[in-house]
Amino acid sequence: MEREDLYKKFEEKNKAAEVGGGVDRIKKQHEAGKRTARERIELLLDKDTFVELDKFMVHHCVNFGMEKTHVPGDGVVSGYGKIDGRQVFVYAYDFTVYGGTLGGVNAKKIVKVQELALKNGAPVIALNDSGGARIQEGVESLSGYASIFYQNTIASGVIPQISAILGPCAGGACYSPALTDFIFMVKESSYMFVTGPDVVKTVTHEEVDKEELGGAYTHSRKSGVTHFICNTEEEVLMSIRELLSFLPSNNMEDAPTTAVSDDRNREIEELQTVVPVDPNVPYDMKDVIEPVLDEHYFFEVMPHFAQNAIVGFGRLNGKSVGIVANQPAFLAGVLDIDASDKIARFIRFCDCFNIPLVTFEDVPGFLPGTVQEHNGIIRHGAKIVYAYSEATVPKVTLITRKAYGGAYIVMSSKETGCDINLAYPTAEVAVMGAEGAVNILFRKADEVTKQNAIETYRENFANPYRSAELGYVDEIIQPKQTRIKLIQALEMARNKVKTHPPKKHGNIPL
Ligand code: HXC
Repeated sequence: MEREDLYKKFEEKNKAAEVGGGVDRIKKQHEAGKRTARERIELLLDKDTFVELDKFMVHHCVNFGMEKTHVPGDGVVSGYGKIDGRQVFVYAYDFTVYGGTLGGVNAKKIVKVQELALKNGAPVIALNDSGGARIQEGVESLSGYASIFYQNTIASGVIPQISAILGPCAGGACYSPALTDFIFMVKESSYMFVTGPDVVKTVTHEEVDKEELGGAYTHSRKSGVTHFICNTEEEVLMSIRELLSFLPSNNMEDAPTTAVSDDRNREIEELQTVVPVDPNVPYDMKDVIEPVLDEHYFFEVMPHFAQNAIVGFGRLNGKSVGIVANQPAFLAGVLDIDASDKIARFIRFCDCFNIPLVTFEDVPGFLPGTVQEHNGIIRHGAKIVYAYSEATVPKVTLITRKAYGGAYIVMSSKETGCDINLAYPTAEVAVMGAEGAVNILFRKADEVTKQNAIETYRENFANPYRSAELGYVDEIIQPKQTRIKLIQALEMARNKVKTHPPKKHGNIPL
């Protein structure tokens, strides 16, 4: 063969690989409102940076007529590229090829990318759109999943791992995203479930459609499986780019510093009146968080799940911070099982990746009741104190109002290793609120005595001064100075060195 023919043959093979399952299936994919794997990768990465690996790999399956069909790439597009000029690794299931199902060969492609990412200290992004285990490949497919899950686990805490669900994600396929740090879903075109509606009907006799069983709404509000819900695929891909801007590439680095135009000494006059003095009056904690951050910008994580807690990323003087907060506007900011899980996991993520934690606290306690107790609020609540105690990143807490009881302890108290504890003059650091305390201490007293006792209790305990006298609160601040004080505290703790006794790993109450 002549050289030109060889080159031509290569170009033809290349083109054939790039049409995946063929033009008809691509059309069907588009008609379903979905992009192809390659289109998604192109949108996700910086222009012209994608380098594809293993474009010509094909399956070895000889069951159910599979030996007659071979599609180059075998239903997964994988490789590496850049986001904002930083290295990332990516793989995308191609639904146009055997429904994006996973077999032994394309699992090897995925594992190769995972290993490269780990070795080179760069994030991995998985774009899921798959019918799950390729039935024709039997145990080879299951083995492929197991290898991917293993890599997910080994890479956890070393490099950020992000999953987008852009179509079906069924069966065991759900467990790779579940092992990653953040999951994104698209409204109405993505769903995740371990067993689909038909199996559910057979086993439990429940009638449920796939949207209700495992759609984006369900997983963002009820199960807490997904962290972000977007209107379109494009929004998912752009949000992944944005999320990465807050994160380092690996656990040995700090997150990138951004140029800031926002004044580090900016006073925020409106904060003087945001927090009501009456502990029973709600307010939106985001009205405190947002103005404090650079450019007032808060990138919230899990905004629809356990709304009594708030977590997310922002920047203070150009540096990434992880925000954890109680939300007095929702269930009075009480801590329950879901809020505990949401907070603890976020703290651990930030700690893995050297992102300092800023906690905004206004919490009346743990939610009482049989539902909470029987479902293990003790075990779940313990996760928060474990996560904060274990975290060695700089930690700053601001008590805006209530810091009652066990909730005071778990929300990054001084004793759990917080570096700087600040409080507003409206703060109340106490075992419980005045009415509750008096009802216990003066159970049998008349109303007048009780009222007097409530006044006395408020005078003595419903303030930050007792804690400040004892050194549990380091500084009481004017609300308008919040931004300045947080930046100072984080700057002070920037070179913090804190280690725990050597161990294989701890045993967080799961
Ligand atoms: C092999 C599969 C497949 C599978 C889909 N296909 N799922 N092939 N194994 N698991 C094929 C279809 O036969 C079809 O091929 C093509 O992919 C597209 O599928 P359609 O059904 O035409 O598409 P759609 O109507 O959009 O429905 C998509 C779907 C549905 C919802 C994903 O196909 C489906 O329910 N599939 C089964 C999902 C499932 O139960 N997966 C769990 C597997 S067990 P042709 O050639 O006709 O176009 C599992 C356990 C793993 O994952 C455990 C690991 C720990």
